[in-house]
Amino acid sequence: MAKRGISILKGIDSDTVTRLLNKAYADEWLAYYQYFIETKVVKGIMKDAAIAELTQHAADELRHATMIADRIVQLGGTPLLSPKEWYTHTNCGYEAPEDANVLPILEQAIKGEQCAISIYSELVDITREKDIVTYDMVSQILADEVEHEEDLQALYDDIHEFIAEIKKNLD
Ligand SMILES: [Fe+2]
Ligand SMILES: [Fe+2]
Repeated sequence: MAKRGISILKGIDSDTVTRLLNKAYADEWLAYYQYFIETKVVKGIMKDAAIAELTQHAADELRHATMIADRIVQLGGTPLLSPKEWYTHTNCGYEAPEDANVLPILEQAIKGEQCAISIYSELVDITREKDIVTYDMVSQILADEVEHEEDLQALYDDIHEFIAEIKKNLD
C-alpha cells in the first residue's frame, strides 16, 4: 500500500475508490469472458471479421482488469478474490450468448460497451480533482470503451447493409 500515494487523495477516501473499482473490476472480467466465449461460438455471415474484433476486445478488457487490480492494491484494497463475487459486484451484468448469430452477438456486445461507457463516465466524474491517478486510469479506459462501441457499431452496420444488399439481389 502506497501511504504517501494514498495521502494525495482529496475529499474522497481510498475505501470508496476501491469499492467502486472492484465493481468495475467485476465488469471487466465478465466482459472479457463474454468476448472470449463469443469468439468460440459465433456463427453466420462475416463471422471472421466479428471474431477479429471480439478477440481484440477480449484482450483489452483483460488489460483493463489488470490496470484496475493494480490500482486497487496501490490504494490498500484487495481485488475480488473469487469469481463468485463478479456476479454480486457487477454493474453491467453478464449476458450469455445464447443466440450465437453474428448480429445478436454484436447487439449484446454494443449494449455491454454502452453500460461500460456510463460507468467509467461516472468514475471520471467521481474521481476528478480528488484522486488524480485513478482519474487518469478511468479516463484511459473510458476512451477504449468508446472506441469499442464505435468499432462494434461500424461492423454491425456493415454486416446489416451486406445482408440487405444480398436480399435486394435475390428479389
Ligand atoms: Fe473494459
Ligand atoms: Fe470494452
